[in-house]
Formats: sequence, C-alpha cells, structure tokens
Amino acid sequence: NCLAYAAGEGSDPRTVGRSKGREEFEAMREAVPDANHRPAYHFTPPANWLNDPNGLVQWNGRYHLFYQYNPAGPFHDSIHWGHAVSDDLVHWEDEPIALAPDPDGPDAVGVWSGCFVDDEGTPSVMYTGGDDGDQLPCLARAEDDSLRTWTKAAENPLITEMPADVDVLQSIDWRAEFRDHCVWRTGETWYQIVGSGIEGEGGAALLFESEDLLEWEYCHPILTGDWRKTGPIWECPELLRFDEGSLLHVSDYSKVAYFSGEYDEAAKRFEPEDHGVLDHGVFYAPQSFAADDGRTLMFGWLKEDRDREAQWDAGWSGAMSLPRVVSLAADGTPEFSLPTELEALRETHHSFSDLTVSPDGTNPLADIEGDTLEVKMTVDARNVGEFGLVLRETPDGEERTVVRCKIRHREVVVDRSQSSNSDAAADSSDSMPLTLDEDGTFSLHLFLDRSVLELFTNDAQALTSRIYPTRPDSTGVGLYADDCEVTVRSLDVWELAATED
Ligand code: FRU
Repeated sequence: NCLAYAAGEGSDPRTVGRSKGREEFEAMREAVPDANHRPAYHFTPPANWLNDPNGLVQWNGRYHLFYQYNPAGPFHDSIHWGHAVSDDLVHWEDEPIALAPDPDGPDAVGVWSGCFVDDEGTPSVMYTGGDDGDQLPCLARAEDDSLRTWTKAAENPLITEMPADVDVLQSIDWRAEFRDHCVWRTGETWYQIVGSGIEGEGGAALLFESEDLLEWEYCHPILTGDWRKTGPIWECPELLRFDEGSLLHVSDYSKVAYFSGEYDEAAKRFEPEDHGVLDHGVFYAPQSFAADDGRTLMFGWLKEDRDREAQWDAGWSGAMSLPRVVSLAADGTPEFSLPTELEALRETHHSFSDLTVSPDGTNPLADIEGDTLEVKMTVDARNVGEFGLVLRETPDGEERTVVRCKIRHREVVVDRSQSSNSDAAADSSDSMPLTLDEDGTFSLHLFLDRSVLELFTNDAQALTSRIYPTRPDSTGVGLYADDCEVTVRSLDVWELAATED
C-alpha cells in the first residue's frame, strides 16, 4: 500500500518542482535516462514518483492525463497532481504541476486521487485532500481550457461528517479510510461514490448526492464486499455504464476487482451478476473517461516490481499503462482492445502465416530483436501441451523472460525466474487463466516496452508485468514448443518507435 510510505523524506515537497515548465521537465527526463528499463512509449514521470491516473478527460479535443506525483523523489510522500497532454494518445507533453498541497489547507499532506467533472462547461475536479488524520473530499476549478491553473473551492473540505449508519473503517493513521471519487450527473442531481471500508465487513463504495457539487448528502453504499475476497478497503471505485450493462471496479491494495451487472437508478444500488479481476498483474488504481468518439478509455498505474533502493537509484518510479478501450461483452465480461492510434508506433514489421514451431529447439524468430515490440498472434492450440514466447533474452540465455502458454492447464504464465540478474527485481511468476475458442485457437496480443510487459489473451484477460534485465544485449526474441509441433496461424511482430528518450 503506497499510503504506508508517508514519511517525511527529501527536500520540502511543497515547493520542489512547483514552477517547472516543459523545458525543465525535459532536462529532468534527460537526467534520469535508465535506458534499459525506462519505457520508451509508455508515459512515465519526468523524474521521481508516479502513481494513480487522475482527472482523465478529452477537453477541447486534447487528452489530459493528470497523475499522482511526488516531485521530491521516487517515493510516495507529498503528492501533487502532475499533468501531461496529448493530441493522439501516443505522444505526451509535460505540463506544469496542476495541483499542490496547501500547508494551511485541507490537503496539507497530499492532493490525492480524483476525477474530472464537467460542471456545465466549467472544467472541475473532485479529489481527496490528505490532512492530519483526515481524508477530505475537495473541489477545484480550472481557470481556462488549458487546464493548467486550478483554483481550489473556498468551501473545501466538502464532506467532514462520516455516515452515521455505517461504521467506517479507521486505522492508526486515519480517522476514516475514505477517499477517491467517481462523479456523475443524472438529471439535475450530482452523485459520487467514495472508496471506503466498513468495520468487520469489507470494502465499500459510498454514495453521496448533491445539487451543486459543494454540499453533499450521504445516501448508502451502492455495493459492499466481503473483506476475505476483496480486502477491507476499496480505493479508486469507478462506475462505468455501457449499453450491455454496468461495470464497477475497485482497487483493494492487491488487485483491481470488477463487478459487472446493473446499476439500479431508482434504488441507487449496484446489482452484481458477475465478478473477476481486471488485470492479473501490477496494473492498479485504473481510471477511465469517455473520449469524444464514445470510446471508454482506461489508464492504470503500473507499479514497480523492484525494491525501493533500486527505484531510488533509478531516479523515477511508476509508469502509466497504455490506454485500453474497455467494453462489455454480451455476457457481461469486460473486454479490452488497444486504440488504433497506437499503430502509429509501428516501424519494422515481421509477418508470418501458418508458422510451424517445432519442439526441436529451432527458433523461427532468431532474426528479430528489440526491447520495444508489439506481438499479435493466433495460435492453434489443439493437442498442444506448452508453447510460448521468449523476450529480452541475452545471446547466451542467461537473462530471459518466458511467456508460457500452458495449454493443458489453461493458463498463461509470465516466468520471471531468469528475467534479471539483479536481486532487486521480483522473480516470481505471474499468471492468468487461458480460454480457447470453439475452434481450439486463442489470440495473444502483447506490448513490450523495456521494463513493461502488457499481455492480453482473446481481448478479454489481461496481465501486466515488470521485468528488469541488467544486460544491454537482452534483446533476443524467440518462440518455442515443448512437446509437439504448434501451428501459429498468424503472427505479426512490430518494432515500435520511442516517444520518450
Ligand atoms: C491508490 C491510492 C488512492 C489515494 C492515492 C494516494 O493507489 O492509495 O487511494 O488517493 O493512491 O496517492
């Protein structure tokens, strides 16, 4: 849990980096290159610390990505809102810090996660102020459409009383675990859910309503969970509506749990029909927004999976996922696709059809190398035991990451046991379930970006992993089959361009 880092290290975080403009951020990026690990086309902070995506919006055509940012160092401490803009979801430019803690305000400890609100044309954000022992909902309004300068509402904090009829969870540090916001409007009424937990029960998404975004009245939880299944606290709850139904997702410190079903507008309660995990790896605290063309785009924080000292030495920590287009299948399961805009990254293309991979050890991809790749394939998995893909392999095989498709076990495993020679990097395996289509095939789509590996099967299951090879020659790519020949019906590999260097 990142909140556990709340120690006062480093220089005065209230002023560091506050006035930074684009050039200074560029210089910071150059000062911490970390070429083997720092993603080339995923968004990362200029330097220092990044966690959750916040305030996502396409405003006047431009995409705005705000994020939890500590300008004082690569650790979670005094959190500001960093800001980047893009016209194409591919190239991001740093903007000055958007929101900073106010030592005399209700957000003295940090400006925590929150969402964008279009208040009849006035760009606004609802966020959590971390104060001495309190987590306090606050509002800020942008001064113009550049979304660069924000004025915090004089009425902040907006909610100070905890609901009387539920026993909101407390901790040693906090009088109430009560944070993160998802705001929407139905008719003339504003609603928001806040992440929380109920003593002895489990995580909760608490519903509030308001006529003016400033005065909020408590309704009830739209859903509560069982602490044994989804933890005692829900962070970053988000309710998404689709024609096929609704999706509520919450982050419970270890995973992003989703519930799909119906949000009953009259009863104001979420009726879950199905549940699952949005991503089986390090993807956390995601947030979404509706783009102008109607797509629902989701970003998540990709946590580091190397120790704190290694993050300190690298000078930066945390990456943003690629944007994922989220939809709901007819049976209520979430599906992902990647925005076509990302195709702009594609450079050299290697294409194969009906490729036979033999168990004799011949590697049909021996000519390909790279640490920034997109791979897309459809595999005929009938009668196959294990088949897989090797990435970031050194010529002598000392370092390598293996994506094992264990067909018999209906599982995909990212085997990191040899990913890195460094003890600072996690070496446990990550896994996700694998389903085969009726014709015995499955599809795999993956993005490798130096230390980031985003993996999708059948556009439905996702697993994001972090790997930290130490050797600069860890750029080999391979395919293998374990016990019998495997036919890869189609295989496309693209070497991808860098947008950050
Ligand atoms: C999730 C989270 C949020 C909180 C923010 C603080 O990662 O803990 O609950 O608002 O990060 O940075």
